[in-house]
This record gives sequence, structure tokens and C-alpha cells, in this order.
Amino acid sequence: MTAMTPDDLTRQVLGALAGTPQPRLRELISSLVDHLHAFATETRLTQQEWRAAIGFLTATGQKCDAERQEFILLSDVLGLSSLIEMINEADGGTEATVLGPFYVPGAPRRAAGDHIGRPEDGDPTIVAGVVTDTAGQPLGGATLDVWQASADGLYDTQDPEQPRFNLRGVYATDQEGRYAFRTSRPASYPIPTDGPVGGLLRETARHCWRAAHIHAIVSAPGHRTVTTHVFDADNPYLGSDAVFGVRDSLVRPFRPARPGDPPDVAFVVDMDFTLVPAAPAG
Ligand code: BEZ
Ligand code: FE
Repeated sequence: MTAMTPDDLTRQVLGALAGTPQPRLRELISSLVDHLHAFATETRLTQQEWRAAIGFLTATGQKCDAERQEFILLSDVLGLSSLIEMINEADGGTEATVLGPFYVPGAPRRAAGDHIGRPEDGDPTIVAGVVTDTAGQPLGGATLDVWQASADGLYDTQDPEQPRFNLRGVYATDQEGRYAFRTSRPASYPIPTDGPVGGLLRETARHCWRAAHIHAIVSAPGHRTVTTHVFDADNPYLGSDAVFGVRDSLVRPFRPARPGDPPDVAFVVDMDFTLVPAAPAG
């Protein structure tokens, strides 16, 4: 009689899953088992290491509550959230990136050019551009839901000094697809490090900073919605963003204002967005 091998064991587990009625669940759970077994075998995972991993995942779950989602943060710092965006995005449109935990639905609708926060939140900046389809046709009546942290690196939801919906706003494009909003130049900010994910960053000698950015969800009837960012080209963390959210195509200069620009702004950002037509129903 020959001893059972790791491959025999993996095959046995896969066999036990083969009767899973729902085909997609069968595919996902079988592939997960296959990769987990390969990982444990390749690294010769010890019982002590396995127990440490279970302890880490338990602590991650215990850190979660209605406001804090430590598992999503874990997915973010492992680049998984960014990868999921990448493999599901529509070709030919503005690149997508992570939503992050600070999105709040229901931000106020604001008029073109209005400030999304308070002038004292940071250096006055205007962001403007057009929303088009993949053929370059302007999309009038498209919606931009934008939000960002203040120059102190805090979102309104983290900072009792900021009014509700500060640095958040919903803008519509005009008939030429144009939009514009005033804001404050965003700063880099640290992702939360007071939980197990912070410990993981420290153990792996990684920093916790996000490259400075403005979030946007851009949508238009008949088109696929894109969740994306605009990154500040001068930011030192572009090459080492803690959640791997940076895409070169989303990096824009915050250029100093010059004569002819609106007199109340210090920086001007040009950012166009392209939306891909929605797949026909059925
Ligand atoms: C954010 O950009 O808001 C964010 C994204 C992932 C983790 C933490 C923050
Ligand atoms: Fe953010």
C-alpha cells in the first residue's frame, strides 16, 4: 500500500466538490481549493504558521463593524480590490480603480463650477473636462459623483470639524459634455493602521499612504458607469500607493493657474472621461 500524497488529498477534496449543483460556485470553490492546496504544499506551511494565519483572519473579522470593513482593507493592501476592478472593466473607456471605503451616496447636486467643499480646505483648484463616449461624442447630461479628503488628509466622515458632505458633490455635464468643479488640492493620506492590516503593513515593511487623488463615479444613460480617480502628478506616492490604485492614464498635472484662468484658483486640472456603451440587454 502506498502512502497518500498531497496531490491525492487535493484530488479527493476536488472530487467531494464535484457535485456542487451551481456551476459557478463549483468553479470558484474548486479553483480556490486547488490554489490553497498548492500554496500550502509549495511553501511547506507549518501548523504554527497556519494557526497564525487563522489568528490574523479572526482578528480581521473582529475589527469589522458597521463603519469599518477590515477585510476590504486587507483585499485593498493585497492588490486584490484593484485587480478585480481591472479584470471587470470595460475596454476602451476611462480606466477604473478602487472605490475605497469613504464613498457616501446622496451627496448634494451642485451647479457647474461650484466648490465641493470650503475654500479653507486647501489650495483652490478647478477640475474641468468633457465626458464622451468611445467614439468621441460628447455625453450631455452625464453625472459625476466626486469626493475627496481635505488637505489635512481626512474625509468629512472622519473629521468632526468638517460639515456633512464637505468635499463631496454631484455634477452634471452640459450639452457639449462639459463639466467643471472647484475644489481644494487633495493631499496624500494614510489608510487606517490601527487594526490587523496595519500590523501586516508594518511586518512587511510597507507604508500606509495613498497617492493624493480625487474620486469620481461617472455615469450616463446607456453607458457603463466607471468608478475611478484623478491622481496628482506631483505626488511622491504614485509609485507606491498603499492599495495599488494608481493607473498612469489617471495621473494629471495640477498646473499653476495662469492669466486667462479663473482668478480665484491656484491650480487647474484637465481631466476628460470616456464611457463605454452598455452591453445590449439579453
Ligand atoms: C480611498 O481612496 O478612499 C481608500 C481606498 C482603499 C483603502 C482606503 C482608502
Ligand atoms: Fe480616497
